[in-house]
Amino acid sequence: MREHDLPLERNYAEYESLRARFAAIRERTTYLCSPLEIEDYVVQPVAEVSPPKWHLGHTTWFFEHFILEKYFPQYRTFNKTYSLIFNSYYKSAGEHWQQKNRGVLSRPTVEDVRFYRNYVDSHMIEFMDSGPMTNEHRFLLKVGLNHEQQHQELLLMDIKYILGMNPLRCIYIDFELDGEFSRRDGWREIEPGIYNIGSDTQDFAFDNERPCHKVLVGRCSISSSLVTNEEYLEFIQAGGYSRPEFWLSKGWDWVVENRVGMPLYWYQEADVIYEYTLHDIRPLVGAAPVCHISYFEADAYARWKGLRLPTEYEFEILLGLSAAGALKGEKWHDYLAGGFHPRTLSSTGGQLWCWTKSQYAAYPGYTAFAGDLGEYNGKFMCNQFVLKGGCIASPRGHVGPAYRNFFEPQQRWMFSGICLAKDS
Ligand SMILES: [Fe+2]
Repeated sequence: MREHDLPLERNYAEYESLRARFAAIRERTTYLCSPLEIEDYVVQPVAEVSPPKWHLGHTTWFFEHFILEKYFPQYRTFNKTYSLIFNSYYKSAGEHWQQKNRGVLSRPTVEDVRFYRNYVDSHMIEFMDSGPMTNEHRFLLKVGLNHEQQHQELLLMDIKYILGMNPLRCIYIDFELDGEFSRRDGWREIEPGIYNIGSDTQDFAFDNERPCHKVLVGRCSISSSLVTNEEYLEFIQAGGYSRPEFWLSKGWDWVVENRVGMPLYWYQEADVIYEYTLHDIRPLVGAAPVCHISYFEADAYARWKGLRLPTEYEFEILLGLSAAGALKGEKWHDYLAGGFHPRTLSSTGGQLWCWTKSQYAAYPGYTAFAGDLGEYNGKFMCNQFVLKGGCIASPRGHVGPAYRNFFEPQQRWMFSGICLAKDS
């Protein structure tokens, strides 16, 4: 894939109709897979990384199950067994294949799954053209589209793991990424006060972003720059991974059991540390943000620095200020089309997901999506932490200040970084 072949990001706001958004988003998913060889679509190197073929089938099943089978009487299910294979975790939709075993299935073939996508797509277009959609139809369609966008980011995470953990370390896109890593000035102060947190949009928002509610926040400051490779290296050289005093108990166990000594995708040959990216393998760029960090690592680094991670509320307030243009020189989500590695140090520029110290939990007054989609978010609100701000792999327009991403504290194959905070 070359840079000029990358019509990846479209301005979805230009698409007035959901029909056009549907076509554009579905096209982008298959486009993201286009640099892959056929074997890349099938493997599952670890349980949390799904084969790209599965993502293609699962996002299709979502539209088939939640819309076509329920609301389009003339629709005929493509293959009844596909529900077993491509249902992720919806108990209400019947049995599903175990996540860790997604890579053991050689069939359906990639070609079969492409055919399945086309079949469902053409019926979805027919469904949308068949008459005015009800509010419920529109809502389900928006869930399906946002769901597919989440999987677009997951696809990039999984593709990076599949290619990057293979000793051949093949690259995904053969164009070099430039970067501009000058530091931004210091700390952004958050004034103490009562803030609105969460989404009150009339348009689509995930259930975990609602309801909008009041939160009391004390005075604090958040760094305007992400932690750099160079800074993280200092932590390593100071014995960061061998000094338990910096680590949470579970974090220390994770370091010892997994012999963790550096971020994911770093490796050392002779005296040189290299970093694998989707674009290249490069000697570590000291001034670039450190990437693919677990919560445990982010927390230990902050403790070593005598600082802390921000709460999700603090970070959402900062993102809101950035989105409103209230921060000088800031631009919310300055995505650079076609690049899948951070290009600036901005902590609010959608470069890397920032870990927060907030446990992922329901907001006061939380109500899950109605019906079967109630399983979408609510049941995962246990033992995970919130990340904010989006990353270079997040589809444009998908992530806003209220958006809550969440992962387990040991996970680090997502595009995650560190943004520090302090009480002040
Ligand atoms: Fe999904």
